[in-house]
Amino acid sequence: MRKLPFKERSLLFAPMEGVTDEPYRIAIERAFPEWDYLCTDFLRVPTVGAFSSQKLINHYGQKVLRTPELRKKTGFQILTSYRAQTEEMVKQINEIKEIEHLDLNLGCPSKKVNAHKGGAYLLSEMNELREIIQIIRKNFDRTFTVKIRIGYKDTDRFIDSLKLFEDEGVEAITIHGRTRDQLYRGFANWDFIKEAVKTVSIPVIGNGDVWTVHDIDRMFDYCECDSIMLGRGALKTPWLASLYYQYQDRLDDLDDFTLLQERRTYVQNYFDELEREYKKEENINVRILNRFKSFSRYIFDDFENAEQLRSSFLRANSLDHFKDLLYDI
Ligand SMILES: Cc1cc2nc3c(=O)[nH]c(=O)nc-3n(C[C@H](O)[C@H](O)[C@H](O)COP(=O)(O)O)c2cc1C
Repeated sequence: MRKLPFKERSLLFAPMEGVTDEPYRIAIERAFPEWDYLCTDFLRVPTVGAFSSQKLINHYGQKVLRTPELRKKTGFQILTSYRAQTEEMVKQINEIKEIEHLDLNLGCPSKKVNAHKGGAYLLSEMNELREIIQIIRKNFDRTFTVKIRIGYKDTDRFIDSLKLFEDEGVEAITIHGRTRDQLYRGFANWDFIKEAVKTVSIPVIGNGDVWTVHDIDRMFDYCECDSIMLGRGALKTPWLASLYYQYQDRLDDLDDFTLLQERRTYVQNYFDELEREYKKEENINVRILNRFKSFSRYIFDDFENAEQLRSSFLRANSLDHFKDLLYDI
C-alpha cells in the first residue's frame, strides 16, 4: 500500500548539497509552490562523537519544523556508512515527531564519502546495506525511503538491491539512472527506472536528466513511475513545476515565445525570494552574492547569448549590481 507524504505523479525538488538548505527551500516554496515536495540535502551520520538534536532540527529547519504546511512537504535526508552511528542518530530523529519522512542517500558519488564506505558505495555491499536498512527501519516508525543510483561500478546488483529494499520495508525508491562510476557523464538510463517499476510493488520515483516539461511527460509515459524528482533541471528552471501544471494538457502550445515571455518574471521572482530568505539568516551581502552567482551558472542556460549573460552576472561586483543586471535581462 502506498504510504508517502506526496500524491501520485508528484514533481519533487531534489535534495542538493550546498543548495537546498532551509532558506532556499522556503524561498522555493514561496516563489514556486507548485513543487509537490522538497527535501533537505544529506546530513552525514558521524562515526565518532556526539551530535545534538539541535543540529538535526537546524538541518531540517526550525521554521519548517514549526510550520505544518512546510513540514508536510519536506523530507529529511541522511547519509551513513557501516561503521557510523546510524542507530543512535535515527533514534534521535525518530524522537522529533514532526519529521515524518526519512530518506537515505545511497547515490552520493563523492570520493571521500565512498572511501568511508558511504553513499553509492553501499550498493556494492549487500550485507552491509541490508544491515543498515534494517537498523533504520527498526528505529524509524514513519515513512522511510531510499535514493539510489543504478549501481556502484556496474549494475549487477540492481535488481537484488530493489528486492532488498522492498523486503525490508522501505516505502519508496528514487532512482537516478546512472552508476556511481558514471558520475554525471552521458545520459541517465531510464530503462532501469522502467525495469524497477515492473520489479517492485512499492513506488518508484524516476530521476536523472529531466530538463523540460516534455521530459516530464516522456518519463511518466516511458517509465510509468509513481513520481519524478528533478535536480539540475530544477536549478536551471525552478519554475518548471509551475509550467508543467499550467500546460500539462496542452504542452504543444508551449512554444519558445511563451517560454521567453514568462521567464524574465520567474527569474526575478526567484532571486527576490532568495534574497528575502537569506537576509533573514543575517547572511552578509557578499555571501548572498556568491550564492546567487552559483545559481546563475544554471539559470541562464537557455537564454539567448547565454554565455555572455552568465559571465556578466558572474562578474557582478555587488548584490545591487547583480540585481540591476536582473532587471535588465
Ligand atoms: C549540486 C548538487 C548537489 C547534490 N546533492 C545531493 C544530496 O545532498 N543528496 C542527494 O541524494 N543527491 C544529491 N544530488 C543529486 C541529485 O539529487 C540528483 O539525483 C542528480 O543530480 C540527478 O538528477 P538530475 O539529472 O535531475 O540533476 C546533488 C546534485 C547536485 C547537482
